[in-house]
Parts: sequence; structure tokens; C-alpha cells
Amino acid sequence: MLEKDKQTILVTGGAGYIGSNCVKELISRGYEIIVLDNLVYGHRDLVDQVLKVKLIEGDLQDRLLLDDIFANHPINAVIHFAAYAYVGESVSDPAKYYRNNVVGTLTLLEAMLAVGINKIVFSSTCATYGIPEKIPITEDEKQNPINPYGRSKLMVERILQDFDRAYGLKSVIFRYFNAAGADPLGQLGEDHNPETHLIPLVLDAALGKRDSISVYGTDYPTPDGTCIRDYIHVSDLADAHVLGLEYLFNGGDSNIFNLGNGNGYSVLEVIETARAVTAKPIKSDMCQPRQGDPSSLVGSSEKAKKILNWQPRYYDLKTIIEHAWLWHQHRHSILK
Ligand SMILES: NC(=O)c1ccc[n+]([C@@H]2O[C@H](COP(=O)([O-])OP(=O)(O)OC[C@H]3O[C@@H](n4cnc5c(N)ncnc54)[C@H](O)[C@@H]3O)[C@@H](O)[C@H]2O)c1
Repeated sequence: MLEKDKQTILVTGGAGYIGSNCVKELISRGYEIIVLDNLVYGHRDLVDQVLKVKLIEGDLQDRLLLDDIFANHPINAVIHFAAYAYVGESVSDPAKYYRNNVVGTLTLLEAMLAVGINKIVFSSTCATYGIPEKIPITEDEKQNPINPYGRSKLMVERILQDFDRAYGLKSVIFRYFNAAGADPLGQLGEDHNPETHLIPLVLDAALGKRDSISVYGTDYPTPDGTCIRDYIHVSDLADAHVLGLEYLFNGGDSNIFNLGNGNGYSVLEVIETARAVTAKPIKSDMCQPRQGDPSSLVGSSEKAKKILNWQPRYYDLKTIIEHAWLWHQHRHSILK
């Protein structure tokens, strides 16, 4: 293995939720980090005050900036989180998604190749599967995304495969299920604006920042009638990224891995667990199901466990919500 302490990693989107947690993990393993983030959704305070690494505020689509970064820093590999990820917005404004997620990534890849950087870890998503035919979902499940967000990520997956064949660019593609939780110290967590993810919305209701939580559909073919999703702890995602990077540094070939918990939890289970963790009543409203919401999305991560030796540490929902709650209270008290 190469000397880790001599390796510098460019982390795009490192001021965001998953990216910041990954940077924390990389720092603890001795890597030098440069974060590139346009701060459209990222948080400067997390990079400056918690992570204390170099933040370059700029956009993925700025080729001159990328050339300048690569010319002036000894970057060995890139971990690429930067993207837009609002499914609903991707339907109403697909151009924004294809430009940022696809053209932005293409710009990054071309800039990397121009200076001979040939290793990248990429954030893809279970949304590339669309409505799966079998559960748990394995990597060979047919990919048939049902919205422009999922399609933008699938396009990048295809580009990476073509770029390996043509230019020898090696990639690890991670298809995450629902990232959740916060680092166990509660310093780095989810703060999206607008927020669309279930756990932070439930915790907002616990803090009184919203009146109630909407439960979309109670008649699904699941044990309690509500949708089942796979919540993967963000620190476990961060671990996987370091392992993916090391896999590439050790000469691994391009590869694709699901990253999920393997245990699905229903919307009602999430709300009940949050009530227990926060000791708050948390009101819920039963609403009509949303179009295109599959009843169950649970991933198999056996491949990542086997090939990367990935061992998720925080798979139980209570721990995930406890960490998220710690962060949520802390963040709320800072921002109010
Ligand atoms: N959160 C999830 O559950 C989940 C699930 C599957 C996949 N993903 C993917 O993981 C990645 C990270 O997700 P997240 O939840 O941390 O999102 P996030 O919005 O918190 O982080 C993304 C970061 O990228 C930055 N960014 C976006 N476009 C940019 C650009 N053109 N140039 C520079 N910076 C840019 C944003 O400012 C933000 O800080 C995304 O690619 C997302 O699609 C997330």
C-alpha cells in the first residue's frame, strides 16, 4: 500500500452531509484533504470549524478552477459527492440536474484525465434501480430510474464505465440507500434546506419546528402498511468510502457496490423509535400515497462486505436516530 500520509484527496461536495462525514473519516486515517464545494447546499462552518481543512469555494463546472486546483495541489484521487439530489425538483427542472450532475461530473473527469489522475469514488444512488423486481436489491438488479435525478446518476455510471475502457480511469461507484444519522459526537449531520428526508423531518417535529409528520400511504403490502426504506448510518458510509479509495490505491479494478443497512424500517417504525429516543409525542398525519413511491426499498450490501471488507457498525435504527437527535438539537440551538 502507498504511504497514506502522503496522499491528498479532493473531496467535491465535502461541505455537505455525507461529504463532511467522509472528510472526518479520511482525516482520522491520515489523508490530506481539499474540499471543493460551491456552498449552494453545503455549510462553510462545518469545514472551517469542525473539519478544519482547506475549502475551495467554487463550482464543479468551472474548468479553469479545476485546472488550477489540480495544477497547484498534489492530488492522488477524487471522491465525488457534489450533486443536486432533490427528486421532485429534478422532475420540474431536469436541465438543472443534467447540467450539474452530468455536465459537472464530465468537466471534473476531463480535468482529472488532463493531469493523469485516474482514481475516483462516486456517489450514486439506489434511485438508479427505480422500482425493483426483488428485495433485497443486489447490484445486478436492472437499472430503470423513474426520475431525472436517478437518470443523471445512471448516466454518470455509464460515463465512468466508458472512461475506464477508453482512458483507464478507475472508479468505485457506491449506490447508497437512505443516508441517515450523524457522526456519533453529533458534530456533523444532516442540514438540508429544504429538508425532504424522513428522519430529520421527524426530529424537526420533535423540536416543535413543524407541527406534525406526514405519513404518505398506510395501505402498502408491508407489515404495518407504511413504506419500508433502508437507512444506512452516515459514519458507515464514510468508512466504506475510505475502503473504496484504498481498494483503488491497491490496484483494484473499477467496481460497483450497494451501501445499505440490509434491514428495512417502516415509516411508522421510524416515528415510533424517534418518539422513544426524544421522549416527545411527535404528531403524525396519515396522507394519500405519493406517486412512484415503491413499497419497499432494501439493499443487499454483501458485495461491499466481501470485497471491501466493509463492516457497518451502526445498523440499528435506535442508534441511528440517537446520533441524529444529538446533532439535531445541537444544530438547532446554534441556529436559533
Ligand atoms: N443523502 C442521501 O440519502 C443520498 C442517497 C443516495 C445518494 N446520495 C448522493 O450523495 C451525494 C451527497 O449527498 P448529501 O446528502 O450529502 O447532499 P448535500 O447536498 O448535503 O451535499 C452535496 C454537496 O455538493 C455541493 N455541490 C452541489 N453541486 C455542486 C457543484 N456544481 N460544485 C460544487 N459543489 C456542489 C453542495 O453545496 C453540497 O454541499 C450526492 O451526490 C447525492 O446524490 C445521497
